[in-house]
Amino acid sequence: MEVVIQPTADALAGLAAAVVEGLARTKPDLVIGLATGSSPLAVYRALVRAHRSGTVSFDQARAFTLDEYVGLPDDHPERYRNVIRRDFAAHVDFAPGAVQGPAGNAADLPGACEAYEAAIRRAGGVDVQLLGIGTDGHIAFNEPGSSFASRTRIKTLTEQTRRDNARFFQGHVDAVPRHCITQGLGTIMEARHVLLLACGSAKAEAVRQLVEGPVSAMWPATILQHHPHTTVLLDKAAASHLQLAAYYRQVYEAKPAWQGL
Ligand code: F6R
Repeated sequence: MEVVIQPTADALAGLAAAVVEGLARTKPDLVIGLATGSSPLAVYRALVRAHRSGTVSFDQARAFTLDEYVGLPDDHPERYRNVIRRDFAAHVDFAPGAVQGPAGNAADLPGACEAYEAAIRRAGGVDVQLLGIGTDGHIAFNEPGSSFASRTRIKTLTEQTRRDNARFFQGHVDAVPRHCITQGLGTIMEARHVLLLACGSAKAEAVRQLVEGPVSAMWPATILQHHPHTTVLLDKAAASHLQLAAYYRQVYEAKPAWQGL
């Protein structure tokens, strides 16, 4: 696990976007794992800018979102399929149907979960996965207690997550769905490169657990300590509880330029 601490969210986004852009150039048919929420927004803006300036294309790429609320109407602005289209996909050149998300409105939800796993497998797996982290340590919507071996399935959101996400529903926690479909921790662990972004002091404890805590289902993101290629991109506030922050800074500053993230 590599920890990179930068002064601003834009600096972090630039690093993450550069990884995706670099991969898109060497592997035009790359598979990107997309997160929703606030954390990846600056990355999407950077990728849209790069696309507009002609330095990157996604016309052969595919993408899979991490999760979806269950039961939001198709046209609800906070349905993650709509969010990802609005914030990213509509502004670049993905082919029609190339961006997929779990079917949170399917009549057969378990069947939809299996179909989603199969679609990721058929695409050859995820090359680069963007992640945020919840204040309770969730990644995707794998809440505390999630199995490290879990695959795409239905989960119940914690009250903490529903409160955290009420800001996307005009502050109404009751409007935040109770259930979701989420890729499992086992699914996410198969991504070849994980880029996790976290900003702000509200994330500091979850980040401390993720990077320096014991691996525990109580902090689901800690499973990433077992991932062979995870990059944790933090601002100063999110890194503020890290015991070895000075060391992570030294490592990054001394990193040979050829090495990349
Ligand atoms: C969203 C997702 C969540 C968020 C997490 C952090 O698809 O999977 O795990 O990444 O809740 O959300 P933000 O970035 O809004 O703080």
